[in-house]
Amino acid sequence: MGPGEPEVLISEEEIGRRVVELARQVSADYETVEELLLVGVLKGCFIFLADLSRLLTIPRRVDFMALAAYDQESATSGAVRLIMDLRTSIEGKHVLVVEDIVDTGNTLEYLMENLLPRRPASLATCVLLRKKERLEKDVRIDYLGFDIPDLWVVGYGLDYKDRHRTLPFIGAVKTV
Ligand code: IMP
Ligand code: MG
Repeated sequence: MGPGEPEVLISEEEIGRRVVELARQVSADYETVEELLLVGVLKGCFIFLADLSRLLTIPRRVDFMALAAYDQESATSGAVRLIMDLRTSIEGKHVLVVEDIVDTGNTLEYLMENLLPRRPASLATCVLLRKKERLEKDVRIDYLGFDIPDLWVVGYGLDYKDRHRTLPFIGAVKTV
């Protein structure tokens, strides 16, 4: 497993099956709401959100936020800042935050603290991957794709130094 060649951790087929299941669950849970607003967290969410949103069977809209770690060298130091906000108000709306991965939980915690005061009708989270053993924050994940070990993963939207985002599978890379 060298830095240039990610090793398959979750195959394209496994991801596909799980995203179908998640979409079914979300569609069932929100069946009675007028509309669901999917809030994607860029950049990592872009492929997951594209697949998930197209599989939903309920009325939905899509908006995006972008966050960045203050310290680019250590993405998980904890400090996060908002670099692009939503285009529209979420007040009174049913919001589902769509995230690629929860590592320490700092990013998701920041997001929830940022969105809750905007008074959405409901606020839930859909996360593709979680590194359970790295979690530092008690963040609520309503829909989870997979628990993964403490590895740096790429593909299906996720990057290592902005590389490998468009791989069809989730792969692990050596970062040192
Ligand atoms: P957290 O704030 O520690 O939960 O980290 C979340 C953010 O760090 C994610 O939204 C990703 O942008 C990034 N990240 C954490 N682990 C990985 C990984 O294994 N691959 C790619 N990005 C990751
Ligand atoms: Mg992310």
